[in-house]
Amino acid sequence: MKGEMKNILVIGACGQIGSELIVALRERYGRDNVVAADIKEPKNDEIASSGPFYYADVTERACLDVIIRKHKIDTIYNMAAILSASGEKNPQLCWKVNMGGVINVLQAAIDYDMVRVIIPSSIAAFGPDTPRENTPNDTILRPTTMYGVTKVCGERLCDYYVKRFGVDVRGLRYPGIISYKTLPGGGTTDYAVEIFYKAIEEGRYTCFLEENTLLPMMYMPDCIRATIMLAEADFDRLEHHNDFNVAAFSFTPGELARAIKKYIPEFEIEYKPDYRQEIANSWPTSIDDSVARREWNWKPEWTIDSMTRDMLEKLSERHKQGKLYDM
Ligand SMILES: NC(=O)c1ccc[n+]([C@@H]2O[C@H](COP(=O)([O-])OP(=O)(O)OC[C@H]3O[C@@H](n4cnc5c(N)ncnc54)[C@H](O)[C@@H]3O)[C@@H](O)[C@H]2O)c1
Repeated sequence: MKGEMKNILVIGACGQIGSELIVALRERYGRDNVVAADIKEPKNDEIASSGPFYYADVTERACLDVIIRKHKIDTIYNMAAILSASGEKNPQLCWKVNMGGVINVLQAAIDYDMVRVIIPSSIAAFGPDTPRENTPNDTILRPTTMYGVTKVCGERLCDYYVKRFGVDVRGLRYPGIISYKTLPGGGTTDYAVEIFYKAIEEGRYTCFLEENTLLPMMYMPDCIRATIMLAEADFDRLEHHNDFNVAAFSFTPGELARAIKKYIPEFEIEYKPDYRQEIANSWPTSIDDSVARREWNWKPEWTIDSMTRDMLEKLSERHKQGKLYDM
């Protein structure tokens, strides 16, 4: 063990997950000890006003070095990525950012003798050959999207750095993440966030996936808790490092629409599947996360119903103030 995590850098801090992770980490480790970086200006006031922020491109090693030296960074969370749907539109950029980012962060971890690195993976690492129901942790990884390819390569590369160079790098395979603070960044499960905004704003939603498309999902508070739990887990207990399945619940667009109708009875949904349907069809319907439960005590707290109620409450409040889209 190389000591404690004291000075943390979050790259991709303005994204859906990064923007909430940064707030949670600043509460935990102190505002000036958690540095945010992104190629996007923070829309969310909380990021810029609650601690240091830098413009930095994860594919430019020199940008990272300036921040690492200035803030004596010992821990990096790399949340910068091009997600599944955006990745299919621009596969080369997806490779450049996702793989270029991972190798830069891993090399920086060696060069600066860092304590820890966190690099998330995704259920997109799986593919049509993977058992779809209760998908095991250690199984067939043959994704059919560029995003999935980069996630599998990222997992393998990170595990290689653990074994070959002793870098303490950890990662978990997020399912679709649902949240109300920052809009999602071009994934196949984005419908499960958009639907809440449209339900409140217009009382109706046109879904880009079919009614019965069952996918694993998680509410943001569980996602942040899982990420920090894994980051702080005892290294000696970890048999896996960069490919932990984590699960909370699975639902279809039809089931989510029914959960929303309990609170907004007049809500209507129609289905117009687009290119994202094929991506969804290649992913698991549910996830076996027993390895994460065993190695670092993972356990979700939110259900589809408690999440739906919370999402509608939080977004309705913003809507009443005329600030539905003000993050
Ligand atoms: N949100 C989900 O449902 C989900 C599911 C599975 C896995 N993940 C993984 O979680 C991580 C975070 O995802 P997210 O949902 O917050 O994504 P996001 O698209 O919302 O955010 C990514 C952030 O990275 C930034 N970024 C892009 N290119 C960059 C570059 N070259 N340099 C620096 N920053 C750059 C973007 O500006 C954006 O703010 C990613 O690794 C993603 O693959 C997310």
